[in-house]
Amino acid sequence: MANSVKFLKFTNKEVASFYAASAIYRLFAYAIGEEKMVLGTATGQTPVLTYRELIRLARKSEIFTNYGEKYLILRQLDNYISPDATADNLPNYSYQIELENSIWKLPNCGAYIPKEYAEDPEEEADKYAQIIQDTNAEAKLVVQLLGIGDEDGHIAFNMPGDSFESTVHVVELNEETIRANANKFFGGDESKVPRKAITTGIGDILESDIIILEAFGKAKADIIWKSFFTEPSTEIPASALQISDENKVVLVILDEESASVVSEKEGEEVFDNPLDVFESIEYHIFCN
Ligand code: PGA
Repeated sequence: MANSVKFLKFTNKEVASFYAASAIYRLFAYAIGEEKMVLGTATGQTPVLTYRELIRLARKSEIFTNYGEKYLILRQLDNYISPDATADNLPNYSYQIELENSIWKLPNCGAYIPKEYAEDPEEEADKYAQIIQDTNAEAKLVVQLLGIGDEDGHIAFNMPGDSFESTVHVVELNEETIRANANKFFGGDESKVPRKAITTGIGDILESDIIILEAFGKAKADIIWKSFFTEPSTEIPASALQISDENKVVLVILDEESASVVSEKEGEEVFDNPLDVFESIEYHIFCN
């Protein structure tokens, strides 16, 4: 496994999310001394507490209020493609509402989201690929927040079998993802889940300087172990994070439940000390 993967285990998702938000906040505080920071925002339920905490921190210190416009670029990781959506009539996905009520309330940032109402999704994917390139070039630091699919280990909407070098592309959602998303966001009704999405590719994700993958709850325990402690394989998209460059940082932030299989099979020594990790992030920023 690459040395750059660090595992952190917290008592519960609230404490874990507090840590993740503090790490992002700290990274931003460092980045603004120099240049812009991209924060790649994951969709899904997992990061919601982190976004809320980030907003709380931002309000308390006004660092985002004062510097957000100049120094922060938010970039959403993926989006559904909805055949019936228009610019004035967007579907009310619960995750999108959560995002709007949380991370998008960070004041004055540049923000990019793949358009779910794009008439030509392939063209929209090309445009988004260009946005990723341009914003990466503008930013001193690219921080990508990720969740992970419970059953298949997808990251963003990259499905098993997708290349580790992929860039932004249009995907057909697989049955597992449709089922999981129906339960989480559509009241269990699979017919309401869009069948396609635009996603940032695994290759794009691996370009980030710092990747923070959050996974909470028992349902993620097995896939977390498989993703990081078995041979990397395109059959488990998250296992690509094992092969990120040594000079990048991958933080895997877990609660007791999601860490349970790793704890059982690999022992407690695989978990890093959260304060040491803060230090290594600082090292990364100042020495790379
Ligand atoms: P979740 O989704 O955060 O809602 O569990 C994760 C994902 O599908 O990437």
